[in-house]
Amino acid sequence: MRLTDEEKSILDGQQGEAARVALSVLVDLGDLFGAEELMPVSQVHIDATLYMVDAGLEFGEKMVDWGGKVAVPTSLNPSAIDLQRWEALRVPPEILSKHKRLEAAYLNLRATPTWTCAPYQHGIVPRFGEQIAWGESNAIAFANSIIGARTNRYADLMDICAAIIGKVPKFGLHLAENRKADMLIELRDFDGSMFADNSIYPLLGYLFGEMAGDRIAALTGIPQNVKIESLKGFCAAAASSGAVGLCHLVGITPEAQTLEMCLGGRKPQQVLGITPAEVKEAEERLRTVKNNAVDLVVTGCPHYSTAEFVRLVNLLKNKKVHDSVVFWVFTNRTVYAWIKNNGMLTELVDQGVMVFTDGCPLQYPRERWQFNAAMSDSVKFANYCFSQSGLGAVYASIEDCVETAVRGKICRKESPWNKK
Ligand code: F3S
Repeated sequence: MRLTDEEKSILDGQQGEAARVALSVLVDLGDLFGAEELMPVSQVHIDATLYMVDAGLEFGEKMVDWGGKVAVPTSLNPSAIDLQRWEALRVPPEILSKHKRLEAAYLNLRATPTWTCAPYQHGIVPRFGEQIAWGESNAIAFANSIIGARTNRYADLMDICAAIIGKVPKFGLHLAENRKADMLIELRDFDGSMFADNSIYPLLGYLFGEMAGDRIAALTGIPQNVKIESLKGFCAAAASSGAVGLCHLVGITPEAQTLEMCLGGRKPQQVLGITPAEVKEAEERLRTVKNNAVDLVVTGCPHYSTAEFVRLVNLLKNKKVHDSVVFWVFTNRTVYAWIKNNGMLTELVDQGVMVFTDGCPLQYPRERWQFNAAMSDSVKFANYCFSQSGLGAVYASIEDCVETAVRGKICRKESPWNKK
């Protein structure tokens, strides 16, 4: 790669060891992908925030020891646990210290303690066309596809290096010519009533991700009036079933106001369709619960927004969570403060809901939680839950999640696409 004099001086160690190591990693990444130079990014979202193994923790701490500080505004993905209410989340104290060390390392690097996987809703939000470096698959897909910011799918630790340098190699989705669709996926035989049920969107995202894999595909047929929370669910699901970094939702994605616009004047190399029958089949595939004995209802994957809390409070009005069910919601600290302030939190707690911040419900300490099965309004959660934790899960609309939590057994209304 061509390097500037300043970049060469960083590689010579003239700006400290943290910068030298971070830049050498980024240069290797650029060489691997054939980038010719580095380019500045205005912000970074670090995904390497879940304590998993000591190597990740030690990398962060080494950067601190070497005097590293972030060069650009940098937000943080969730910790594995609620860093403040970890006892209520049944986190064993013996695993707490490493999460706390990781937290200390990031605060020392001067990252912003957002601890959220929906930084596009409450965080350091980019604008259209902004060059950024984000980790966390759902956030990357949302930033590229819904906002039109530009980021590759940055892996853990690369994100820390990008934050310390404030630059990334110029390749992939940072370049306009690599953002065109070469594949078309059409929604076929759907009628308008099916989209009135918001739970269709994550299922469509799941199917889209399976079909697209790591390709850039355009999707036609999504109604213009789709809510932002539905797009969030779509992107999270698509990035969990496929390596989706950018999807062109025609009429919604800024770079895909028309199909022609995102195809860049070319014909799609492949055209596929999604039908209501496939949505129904996807819903069935996502069910790994063996019977009706759900004892955990979990929402907030990705972290719940204030609008999602309003909907939840309305659905739970004059109801209480059944004694046999634990109802958990995950959100960020900003939304938590708002719902605490306006009384919604007290209302939810009185109804038997527990609200957590910072953490991720997929970090399942099996020996402490010991649930039988989970229900969630998140396809991403339902997709990963069994394979990652051994806990059976079922996807459902938030309406059905609430009904199930209140009655203490699985309640599912027939979805409009089920009737087809
Ligand atoms: Fe967020 Fe964890 Fe879901 S990081 S998107 S809550 S899997």
